Parts: sequence; C-alpha cells; structure tokens
Amino acid sequence: MPWWAKICAKLLLSRIPVSYSLFARLGAFRHGQMANVDYALEVFQDHLSRSGLSSLTGMTCLELGPGDSLTSALLAKGAGASQTFLVDAGSFAQVEVEVYRRQVSAMVAAGLDCPSIDGVQTSDEMLSQMNAQYLVDGLASLRNIPDNSVDFVWSQAVLEHVRVGEFDDTLVELHRVMKVGSVASHRVDLQDHLDHSLHNLRFSTEFWERDWWANSGFYTNRLRRAEILRRMGDAGFSIVEVCSDRFLNLPIPRNKMAPEFRDLDDEELGVRGFNVLLKKNGEAHEQAIG
Ligand SMILES: C[S@@+](CC[C@H](N)C(=O)[O-])C[C@H]1O[C@@H](n2cnc3c(N)ncnc32)[C@H](O)[C@@H]1O
Repeated sequence: MPWWAKICAKLLLSRIPVSYSLFARLGAFRHGQMANVDYALEVFQDHLSRSGLSSLTGMTCLELGPGDSLTSALLAKGAGASQTFLVDAGSFAQVEVEVYRRQVSAMVAAGLDCPSIDGVQTSDEMLSQMNAQYLVDGLASLRNIPDNSVDFVWSQAVLEHVRVGEFDDTLVELHRVMKVGSVASHRVDLQDHLDHSLHNLRFSTEFWERDWWANSGFYTNRLRRAEILRRMGDAGFSIVEVCSDRFLNLPIPRNKMAPEFRDLDDEELGVRGFNVLLKKNGEAHEQAIG
C-alpha cells in the first residue's frame, strides 16, 4: 500500500469507535513489537549493554513507551531490578497473563532470573509481584515519579512519538527523576512510520501538528538528530555516545519536502535512526557522534 493510502486508511480507522486492543488484534494499529518476547529481549539486552550494565541488581528502572506489552517489567525483574516504572501515553499493553507466562521460559533460557508467575491471576498481580508500576498518562505520569529515584532509563522507538510541544518537558522530567550519575539509553527512529522513508517531511509543521492529524496513528514529531541532541543537552543531560545509521540515499527528493526540512544538510536528513546514551550531571564526557 503506498504511503498516502496508509495515511488515508489510518485517518479513517482511527475514527471508528473500537477499542485499541481490538485494533491491535486485527493488526490495524500496533504500538511497536514488545509483545514478541524475542524482540523485547533483544531490545532490553541491547540497551543494557550500551549502558555498560551487566545487571540491574537493586536498581530502580524506567522504560518510556513500553507499547503493547508489560514484558519489560519481567525483563527488569529478571535482571535484578528492585522497582520498575513503565510509562506510556495510554493503556496499550496486553493484559492476558497467559501471554506473559509463556514469555518467562524464554527469559529464563536467555539467562535472566525471572520469577515464575504461575500463581498469578491478573496483570495487576503480575506487576505487583515484579514491584512494577504501569503508568499511562505520559508526561503527567512522569511528573508523579520522585526526584532522583531512578537508576536506569531506556526507550525504544518512543522519543520520536512524543508530541513536539511536550518533548522538552518530557526530557526535563526524565532528567529530574534520574539519580545523579545514572544513565539513559534511547533508540530514536527518524524514518516516517508509513514506509520507512521520509514522507512525513512533505508536510508543513502547521498542518502536521494539528490534533486531528497527529492523533491518527502515524504521528512522529519529525525532530532531527541534531535538534534532539541539542534539546537533551538543554534538559541537563551529558551526551555520552551517539551511534547513527543512515539512508544509502535520501529516500525522497528535497523539493518534495516542506521548506522547513528541505534545506537541512545531508548529514542530518540522511540519518534513519540513532542510539544515544545520556548521563545525568556526569563529569565531562567526550561526545562521540558516529
Ligand atoms: C512505536 S511504539 C514503541 C513501543 C515499544 N517501545 C517497542 O519498541 O515496541 C511508541 C510508543 O511510545 C508511546 N508514547 C508516545 N508518546 C509518549 C509519551 N509522551 N510518553 C510515553 N510514551 C509515549 C506510545 O504510546 C507507544 O507505546
């Protein structure tokens, strides 16, 4: 289906009054792939290793934007976390405990010390056994987490979805809740969420940010890497490391892009996505952008 047809379909589907869980089951809308335990494990272990952490023993952790699944609560507990916050902008995670029961054996096979949830009846009980909280009011939820309480933060394909008007405040809150010296690992996907391209840059900001458009299931804030890194610095973070991957060639011609993007240099427009490791008020770190 071409990108513009996907936009039309999402505009229509998002207006049908059906619950998100039904849409997700039909495959019409999904908030990522965390319901796939292999994907969740890979993402989690990648963020841990990028952060130089071999375990989370005794740590409090926070995942921003867990999407379709509460799996990260099990993963964090299995890695030794004492407490976990899962913060999303809506209640999208599967609640059937059976799904999670099936995931535990995969986690144990991967070497995590994940406790059995055989005796658990509901996802709330499961969360409580993991000492995890699933908070679904985005920025407002972050604001309820105490200062200097979190040892490790991670997110996968989330920061590009935070509405541009909430982006800085979200970073400020993430910085506030982290303990001094703690690290955060984020993967940011800068492709459009239509065709793994840059079709989203065709639209003017004024049009793209209208609520009826932005709430239709394909929104990304379209901030480019340099702008995101600048805002992370402004929020108080030290940028420890950035690893980027690039398009081979720009996927759409510049003259098809809105004026605010068309004149950005290739170095910026060519970035498909990047991983960034942040530290709260660490000592001076060399900034390595690759
Ligand atoms: C593409 S999904 C990624 C989900 C998951 N991390 C994964 O890798 O499968 C983006 C997620 O970001 C969440 N999100 C968007 N804005 C957010 C915000 N302001 N605060 C927290 N989560 C947000 C969405 O609700 C969604 O769950």
